[in-house]
Amino acid sequence: MVQAVWEDGTKQHVQRLEKLDQWVAEWRSDAEKGRCASYIPALKRVNPAQLGICIIEPTGKMTVSGDWEAPFTLQSISKVISLIAACCHHGIPYVLERVDVEPTGDAFNSIIRLEMHKPGKPFNPMINAGAITVASLLPGKSEQKLAYANRIFQKLTGTLPLVNEEVFRSEWTTSHRNRALSHYLKDTGFLECEVEEALEVYLKLCSIEVDSQQIALIGLILALDGFHPLLQEQILPKQVVRLAKALMLTCGMYDASGKFAAHVGLPAKSGVSGGIMTMVPPKQNAASHFPDGCGIGLFGPAIDECGNSVAGVSLLKHIAQEWDLSIF
Ligand code: DON
Repeated sequence: MVQAVWEDGTKQHVQRLEKLDQWVAEWRSDAEKGRCASYIPALKRVNPAQLGICIIEPTGKMTVSGDWEAPFTLQSISKVISLIAACCHHGIPYVLERVDVEPTGDAFNSIIRLEMHKPGKPFNPMINAGAITVASLLPGKSEQKLAYANRIFQKLTGTLPLVNEEVFRSEWTTSHRNRALSHYLKDTGFLECEVEEALEVYLKLCSIEVDSQQIALIGLILALDGFHPLLQEQILPKQVVRLAKALMLTCGMYDASGKFAAHVGLPAKSGVSGGIMTMVPPKQNAASHFPDGCGIGLFGPAIDECGNSVAGVSLLKHIAQEWDLSIF
């Protein structure tokens, strides 16, 4: 658990805010407008009414509410970690020669644009085609690729990642569209390893089990451009983190990224398990409730047609307005 990073003497301080508890209670019912992802059998069985949030500030102060301790799998939030890992290994230019940085306006697993825009370079690393390509760029065979990405996860959270084997198996045996995307990418020369290897790495990273506290901590470190405030150490290159945040803002909420930028105004990444990782950069807005920035981890498993947590997005819209969090 994240507590490990506070062992250097910084006291972990968990607080509850009546106002936040009220908002969570109020927006929890929005889950009725969505459903748990059903294309991954293991995710279908989750209680859709859960809603939890964890906010971590640079001092280590944590504000929590609702089902903030509930475990869930990273799913597409892992796309941020694999992008950072590939850029740390190869440098940004190498990665961007193989994956673009443009939003698509299509579903996260869409195939259509790969063939329409020759030579089939994925539009961005936040959609499946881009993330599978990024997974193929990690160094070594699948085990080493995973180990490399896992080290970045460990640096960020202070914990070793644990793959939820049931979710992984569930995806591995049903991932026909991702296999199709990977074969197409192999054919066009964008995949730098075998199809099954890239897919295994991509799906294992999607199946890492986390809670809202862990993704809030990752969000906080990204908010601070790669500086870990509790360890007082720059753990990731600033330029890589800035690239990741730009992609989160423009493509992180898939086909709803524009609406999220308009109504919430923060870089964010969602996953079909219902997780959302978002962050408030420091000193963007003097009126902000978090002038020194914060990381926010959120979990609400009922998702909409774009793949984003319905109650989670509603809650974030409300919080961003009430606490003046938009970066714009
Ligand atoms: O590739 C898939 O289908 C999933 N494992 C990840 C997709 C995902 O989380 C899309 N998100 N909103």
